[in-house]
Amino acid sequence: MNLPMAPTQAAPKDLGPEEIRALTAEVKALAAERNAVILAHNYQLPEVQDAADYVGDSLGLSRKAAETDAEVIAFCGVHFMAETASVLSPDKTVLIPDLDAGCSLADSITPEELQAWQAKHPGAVTVMYVNTTAEIKALTDYCVTSSNAVKVVEHILREHGADTPILFGPDMWLGSFVEKELGITMHVWDGECHVHAGIRPDDITGLRAEHPGADFLIHPECGCVTQVMEYVASGDIDPEGVHMLSTGGMLDYARQHEADEGTVIMATETGMLHQLRMAAPALDFQPANRAATCRYMKMITLPKLRDCLRDLSGEVKVDPAIAERARVPIERMVAIG
Ligand code: 13P
Ligand code: SF4
Repeated sequence: MNLPMAPTQAAPKDLGPEEIRALTAEVKALAAERNAVILAHNYQLPEVQDAADYVGDSLGLSRKAAETDAEVIAFCGVHFMAETASVLSPDKTVLIPDLDAGCSLADSITPEELQAWQAKHPGAVTVMYVNTTAEIKALTDYCVTSSNAVKVVEHILREHGADTPILFGPDMWLGSFVEKELGITMHVWDGECHVHAGIRPDDITGLRAEHPGADFLIHPECGCVTQVMEYVASGDIDPEGVHMLSTGGMLDYARQHEADEGTVIMATETGMLHQLRMAAPALDFQPANRAATCRYMKMITLPKLRDCLRDLSGEVKVDPAIAERARVPIERMVAIG
């Protein structure tokens, strides 16, 4: 299966408040008519997040997709996320408002490459981030998300033995974070997300100087993770103020600091700011890198969501044999937590 990619679409036109109100009303009416649930990732445009029934991180969205009673899932996120929803709910109609919303990280490993890697390491356990195609998941033993990667690898070492070789992919920054957290060595694929890898150690150094004492919320896909862990290890940054979190974990942080004031540095895609600012309005959330925008996530717009609900277009279907095998590592992950 080839993941469709169209990286050079024109940027979506900004909608005015009236257009947003009218389109949201249309979207809600169509969703009710279609018995559809609208799921949106934390990186979606604010107006798309506001129109959704549930906004969350990859793990939360997988859970919602698995438990919904709705007949249709309108997935506002990228293609691999909609595929995961379809794998978990094969009897539902899963729609994505733009089939070209891909992911550079998911594209960084092909099934042939994974099979060749596995052939070189017989007996190794294959662990793949959910940011992969269904075909990759079908060759995988355990999936992980950014919120549970450490926990899943710990589980594997407990169940399969502390010396078990692990093939971890495709995100090298997440892999290296897991290695450091657990003090282990894995075979780590050298893929990366262009958005997160672009958040560099210099971004953190500059913001530390500008906002001394600020807390850091850092997504483990970021290119600055190793640097920040080194700052913490050398005592340069107070470990209390550094939080390596999934996007859902960042939102939990904001909810726990609902009434606080001060500056918090956030290292992830900038769409995250919308939920964070709503959850803790008095905190000043500063993006570590203002250019950290995922063009694939931003391909989903309210007019496209309205059209896909109206026309039942943009259906994402996974070959049943692949889906059956791909369900195994996802369900293992969801069971571990
Ligand atoms: P979360 O799992 O933290 O939501 O991150 C997913 C991601 O990077 C999607 O691009
Ligand atoms: Fe993929 Fe990176 Fe975009 Fe997430 S932010 S969807 S990992 S390209």
